[in-house]
Amino acid sequence: MAIISTKVFAHRGASQYAPENTLPAFELAEQLGADGIELDVQLTKDLIPVIIHDENIRRTTNGTGFVQNYTLDELQEFDAGYWFSKHYIHTPIMSLKEFLQWIQNRDLLINVELKTNVIEYPTIEKRVMDLINEYNVIDRTIISSYNPNTIKRLRDINDDIELALLTNIQLGKVDEVLDDIGANALHFKSRLLSSKMVKLLFDKNIPYRVFTVNRVSTMKKCVTMEADGIFSDVPDIMKKHKP
Ligand code: G3P
Ligand code: MG
Repeated sequence: MAIISTKVFAHRGASQYAPENTLPAFELAEQLGADGIELDVQLTKDLIPVIIHDENIRRTTNGTGFVQNYTLDELQEFDAGYWFSKHYIHTPIMSLKEFLQWIQNRDLLINVELKTNVIEYPTIEKRVMDLINEYNVIDRTIISSYNPNTIKRLRDINDDIELALLTNIQLGKVDEVLDDIGANALHFKSRLLSSKMVKLLFDKNIPYRVFTVNRVSTMKKCVTMEADGIFSDVPDIMKKHKP
């Protein structure tokens, strides 16, 4: 039996059932019993952290063009729900500030993923840290990024916040890589999960979380291997079957 309790984060909210990275997906994640919420953040033209996965709004709204070329007000004119189902018509894109207002008094963990691997969005790290401090959620927030420079910049700004490097590939000398940038944890794709990988992380005392876990069998493997967390589009199913 695992000693660590593997936390279930709703990936982009409960994104199997509601439009990803929107309030309905976050509300549903809470109702379905998720332990935490993972969300993706980019920066608007007026330098406001906003919750959306892609750099271009085409896939998840009725608009097109890059997030960085719209102000928050302009972005919030678009519909981020109708593409998913007409039940969600008129769902706006949410700012990180609005999300933190919503989650502030809720008992949920937070994983903010900074999407700086395609566009660097200068100053995004400080703007996000300022909001996390303003809403006093630092103790239950993990910030993650595929971009090691983002992690480094965050660590320079704050000594205490948990920082995780994201990877889709096997990393050599993972402890040195993480040490170098000031990361505490590793988040990786589920196909990388192996006893060898986990032993290496355990030996170095590095917590890890796995994405995207939608199968019960993979979740059980993560629990047995004492993963700190999983990211799932179906948090209800993961919670229901978790040993
Ligand atoms: O943070 C884990 C996972 O969300 C990373 O991949 O593309 O779903 O943001 P992606
Ligand atoms: Mg993500």
